[in-house]
Amino acid sequence: MSSTTCIIAARGVDRILSGHPWIYRTDLIDDGGAEPGAIVRLVDRRKRFFGQALYSSKSQIALRLLTRESREFNRDFLAERIRAAAAYRSVVAEGIQACRLVASEGDLLPSLIVDRYGECLVVQTLSQGMERLKPEIVEILKEQFAPRSIIERNDAAVRALEALPEQTGVLAGEAVGEVIVEENGLKFCYDLRRGQKTGGYLDQRENRAAARQYARGRMLDCFTYAGAFAVSLAGQCDSVTGVDSSADGLKLARRNQELNGIGNIEWREANCFDFLKAADQKGERYDTVVLDPPAFARQKSSRESALRGYKELNLRAIKMLSPGGHLITFSCSFHVSEADLLEAVASAALDAHRTVVVIERRTQSRDHPILLTVPETHYLKCLILRVL
Ligand SMILES: C[S@@+](CC[C@H](N)C(=O)[O-])C[C@H]1O[C@@H](n2cnc3c(N)ncnc32)[C@H](O)[C@@H]1O
Repeated sequence: MSSTTCIIAARGVDRILSGHPWIYRTDLIDDGGAEPGAIVRLVDRRKRFFGQALYSSKSQIALRLLTRESREFNRDFLAERIRAAAAYRSVVAEGIQACRLVASEGDLLPSLIVDRYGECLVVQTLSQGMERLKPEIVEILKEQFAPRSIIERNDAAVRALEALPEQTGVLAGEAVGEVIVEENGLKFCYDLRRGQKTGGYLDQRENRAAARQYARGRMLDCFTYAGAFAVSLAGQCDSVTGVDSSADGLKLARRNQELNGIGNIEWREANCFDFLKAADQKGERYDTVVLDPPAFARQKSSRESALRGYKELNLRAIKMLSPGGHLITFSCSFHVSEADLLEAVASAALDAHRTVVVIERRTQSRDHPILLTVPETHYLKCLILRVL
């Protein structure tokens, strides 16, 4: 592995000292001729050493810190980090069949995602540096987990920021497509080759379990994708409607419904904004509503329009909830904080002339660790609310 040295500006040093692993291109003084994706040593102008990082020749995040230590970041070091990530899952996700095994910055392996779906692993290498380490990563995963299959899902749009192509395929073992795994006592089918993200939304597992306590009566699951909330909560409810604009998602949703022998769910392929508006105008009433939209604010600049989107969705839902009904609402936009979401929902409640109790404030499942000094690792916000 490389021993190229990059010189970083005082602001880059401050960032490292504040516990954040990203150094922007504007804080890179000299890249020392580093190759795209190389592991480089970081020094300041006075040649003081600050750590080792993955170098990107393209991204605005020019350097992603791997370690403050000076010992070589080699295959053993990488294996150690992956072992540590797995050890953490044995604390927070013991016996869980589908979980995030390596969560990028959250596991001190910036831009590497490894998700476990039963005996299969799905990998994303989202920077030039991790892409370069992919052969070693695959070997380490084989050694540590002996998976039936390792699938590559590098079709994430963020790869373009690193000038990396979108690609998918089988990195090792069998060419597995669909897998069936258990979550919270129910069976779910995940499409590892074509499903959204690496197959599904593993970050919601604990929220789906928590929501069971409140779900009842007539339920609406907006942005249902493969029906995970709908299927998880149907046993507590009289009837469930799951809505999503993705026909492929709903195909999986029907499959998940069948796998669990559930009869009381109907699926609607629709734009949730239109569906909610029409249902509101028809005077529909629900006892439980789940709102799990995609990230509306992928950049800081779209925060304001995102907040309008969250307000509109939550306003429609609150208006339609029967007294004592529950709203389980999410934002997965990093640029929308929990305080922002609370404010948007409060404004919606005021407009709807309803009083709302905050029962729980939650976040992503614990296998998606939140680092105290890396705010970007806290992206999912969940509010469980009771509407009076
Ligand atoms: C965060 S995912 C939902 C995950 C799901 N609730 C789960 O627990 O697995 C967001 C979903 O919203 C869908 N979607 C995006 N925009 C939409 C829209 N305007 N109307 C309906 N569905 C939409 C996407 O197809 C995607 O399935």
